[in-house]
Amino acid sequence: AYTAEPFVPGGAGLDALREAAAGCRGCPLHRAASQTVFGAGAPDARVVLVGEQPGDQEDRQGKPFVGPAGRVLTRALDEAGVDPDETYITNAVKHFKFTVVPERGKRRIHKPPSLREMTACRPWLAAEVHVIDPEVIVALGATAGKALLGPSFRVTKQRGMLLPCPALDGHEVLATIHPSAVLRADDREAVYEGLVSDLRVVAEVLR
Ligand code: URA
Ligand code: SF4
Repeated sequence: AYTAEPFVPGGAGLDALREAAAGCRGCPLHRAASQTVFGAGAPDARVVLVGEQPGDQEDRQGKPFVGPAGRVLTRALDEAGVDPDETYITNAVKHFKFTVVPERGKRRIHKPPSLREMTACRPWLAAEVHVIDPEVIVALGATAGKALLGPSFRVTKQRGMLLPCPALDGHEVLATIHPSAVLRADDREAVYEGLVSDLRVVAEVLR
């Protein structure tokens, strides 16, 4: 089976983990992507936010959530009252998965990671969470929710509540929509307000 496990150094801090993740070959996604996009933020963060996988911009720059979805997320966190200095942001899968669409100027279009790839990459997320030991973890979107809470997770039914996560030492997870869903929605304002309202639950936990 695909797994990052043999690449994850035991007892390592975040810097050593990031360095080791740069050489991960635990699943085939490292082949087409430019680089590993490891998490970023405060090593003593009280909240760890988990996206799906890096996008095109993140793959180029090597940092999570630096593209359009990241701008929505930053604004929503601010509006909800979550201090960015208390956050660490990462992804369930650390390499960009995409297809190239020749008729669209060779644009690289994001493809959802498979369950096998999410499972393969989970040792990195588990190590990040273990080192940081946050008070709450936020799953951004259905894919991150399934990666943390299992394949039967439904974001529409289970968003906005604190759920224990057996896969991550029982840490509490709050799931919400992915910030990119705001960008795709017809009723952007309503969808954005839903994201902010879920993140207010996180702000309450941190109060
Ligand atoms: N979407 C994600 O899920 N993660 C990123 O880092 C960027 C966009
Ligand atoms: Fe390793 Fe994850 Fe990249 Fe796969 S996606 S090669 S498991 S870091």
